[in-house]
Amino acid sequence: MDPTNISTRLRVLLVEDDEHDRIAFRRAFRKSQVDCEITECIRAEEALERLRAGTSSFDLVVIDQKLPGMPGFELCKTLLVEKIPLPLVLLTGKGSEQLAVDALKAGVDDYVVKDPSESYLDLLPVVLLQAVRRNADRTARKQAEERLLTYHNRLRSLASALSLAEEQERRRIATEVHENIGQNLAFAKIKLGKVWELASSDGLRDAVDEVIKVIDETIEDTRSLVYQVSSPILYQLGFVAAVESLTQQSQKQHGIAIEFEDDGQPKPLSDDVRVLLFQAVRELLANVVRHAQAKTAEVSVAKKGDQILVDVKDDGIGFEPAEIGPAMDQDKKFGLFSIRERLESLGGAMKVASRRGHGTRVTLSAPLSREADDDR
Ligand SMILES: Nc1ncnc2c1ncn2[C@@H]1O[C@H](COP(=O)(O)OP(=O)(O)O)[C@@H](O)[C@H]1O
Ligand SMILES: [Mg+2]
Repeated sequence: MDPTNISTRLRVLLVEDDEHDRIAFRRAFRKSQVDCEITECIRAEEALERLRAGTSSFDLVVIDQKLPGMPGFELCKTLLVEKIPLPLVLLTGKGSEQLAVDALKAGVDDYVVKDPSESYLDLLPVVLLQAVRRNADRTARKQAEERLLTYHNRLRSLASALSLAEEQERRRIATEVHENIGQNLAFAKIKLGKVWELASSDGLRDAVDEVIKVIDETIEDTRSLVYQVSSPILYQLGFVAAVESLTQQSQKQHGIAIEFEDDGQPKPLSDDVRVLLFQAVRELLANVVRHAQAKTAEVSVAKKGDQILVDVKDDGIGFEPAEIGPAMDQDKKFGLFSIRERLESLGGAMKVASRRGHGTRVTLSAPLSREADDDR
């Protein structure tokens, strides 16, 4: 049944062999405010057959425990095993509370003790209506959870795809800068060398020298820009070499002593994991520089089982890692959050250990590739 649209008419499949009880059941509904359509089955097997053929014409199944052939609880268990998507209510005799408890534990939605002195018939319509509502709520909640999970997974994939696209674009720009600007500058410098040789006066030579100096600086700037935009080392020499070069670069630029360590074991990585891990280390080092106020930091890369572990540690001011999460989004702090999401989408994980005043250690893990055969 559609959980958002509980029909006002309750459609009950009643499995009850006792004719008097069936009549009493009908009478109870007639007396109550609850509009009801009752379909009757006398035997468990008959009910089973009906429900296997389809459940859309019922909102709930009410089953008497005392049935010929198969006890009601057995029928309930069969329906639960077969995942018949209707709430089940068991009618039990007086004194069978244990049976009722067992039934609830097994997944039956509710039970009603057939005790005439307790006027169970008056309660019946309300109990059944409640069982249907509860079931509808549960179904709606489960559907919402599933939708949320699907949405979360899609967002993760999107984050991954976006960061891979970013890296491709960075690589394209870096290649273009290197091949066009860098190579043209080198060419211009050679030609100017010739001009210098042919120059007829010292004044002209000095001027050419100055232009060559500017070209040299621009070549150096271009090179450094290319490395910052997309390290060619990552593609030429692999992840470990690229991370080592990144630590040296950060050290030079920001004056923090950064140690690098590699356990020397081969670490084959898929293209996606390599790019993602490199981006992550770049972001973690940027965090050390921007937030940590650290004197020293340490980056280590190791193989453990079929995983690569990358550790980025600093001795700075630390922070409260519990703050990382969706709540952070309000402050546009996506760094750590997005590393975690992207890594998890590729089967990896991120662990953050940090305390105010005690530095920070972030450990990334990701699966090693079985196909690639070295760390490039
Ligand atoms: N190494 C670190 N040392 C101290 N604080 C850190 C460190 N890394 C992260 N943080 C804290 O965690 C917050 C979230 O980091 P991040 O998700 O990368 O976002 P952002 O760098 O954009 O602020 C930072 O704003 C900072 O307060
Ligand atoms: Mg950051």
